[in-house]
Amino acid sequence: IDGKATAQQLRDNIAAAIDTLKQQHNLQPGLAVVLVGEDPASQVYVRNKGRKTLEVGMNSLEFKLPAETSEAELLTKIAELNGDPSVNGILVQLPLPDHINETAIIEAIAPEKDVDGFHAVNSGKLMNGEQGALVPCTPQGCVMLAKQHLGDNLSGKHAVVIGRSNIVGKPVSMLLLQESCTVTVCHSRTRNLAEICRQADIIVAAVGRPLMVKRDWVKPGATVIDVGINRIDAEDGKTRLVGDVDYHEAAEVAAGITPVPGGVGPMTIACLLRNTLVASCLQNGVELPDSV
Ligand code: GUN
Repeated sequence: IDGKATAQQLRDNIAAAIDTLKQQHNLQPGLAVVLVGEDPASQVYVRNKGRKTLEVGMNSLEFKLPAETSEAELLTKIAELNGDPSVNGILVQLPLPDHINETAIIEAIAPEKDVDGFHAVNSGKLMNGEQGALVPCTPQGCVMLAKQHLGDNLSGKHAVVIGRSNIVGKPVSMLLLQESCTVTVCHSRTRNLAEICRQADIIVAAVGRPLMVKRDWVKPGATVIDVGINRIDAEDGKTRLVGDVDYHEAAEVAAGITPVPGGVGPMTIACLLRNTLVASCLQNGVELPDSV
């Protein structure tokens, strides 16, 4: 299952929708990304987000704050962005330095600008199946890739989600439930994990344990969505990126499987851009184009 190509297609559709928005409504969606500190992985993510934001024709604002930034200073920055009408989406890159309370920061973002979908108002709307929720990006990408392989109707399929994080496991479970899947949520304390996975039509692996899902965990013909991004030592003294699934083993039995890299990863940024477009349309009372 090619996440790179699917993400490219989605970004092309978003770019076309933004063209229309500019021409018909004189609107240009804007995304503000805030990075606190110098975590190297976060710097790479933020740079990629900024580039892809500009590529689809949105306005990109980046704020790099020093690691010593206080919680109060960060809250002031968020209040400023909440009040800025040219900013439709706000993303504060996680993890934050230890002296800053992540929950307090997430809850300070205006829910209608929370393009990560982490605010309690958005997770509550997702849970209740309400319209107008901003849905977390990686879970959206997982469901899009599952549908790309299985078609739009996932009704009655048994989905096993490994992981119960607020960023992936919980929201992807809610989305799959909305699609009328039978959803089993597994985690570090689950007994008989392999046995439960073997019953799955769809496996979503989001635990952060390299190569955990093996050949005999996968039912022949199942669809495997691998959210893991783990860096491990390779034979040649270098390192390589692997998922939570042992791709080569699982690919022998699965009907469809996402690679790492090139699977879920590229979909996350594409869905972030989609959320920024959705947020901009909602804030301006404009209908979202069908193509996205
Ligand atoms: N850090 C790792 N993934 C994410 C994400 O999806 N959103 C934010 N804000 N930070 C992250």
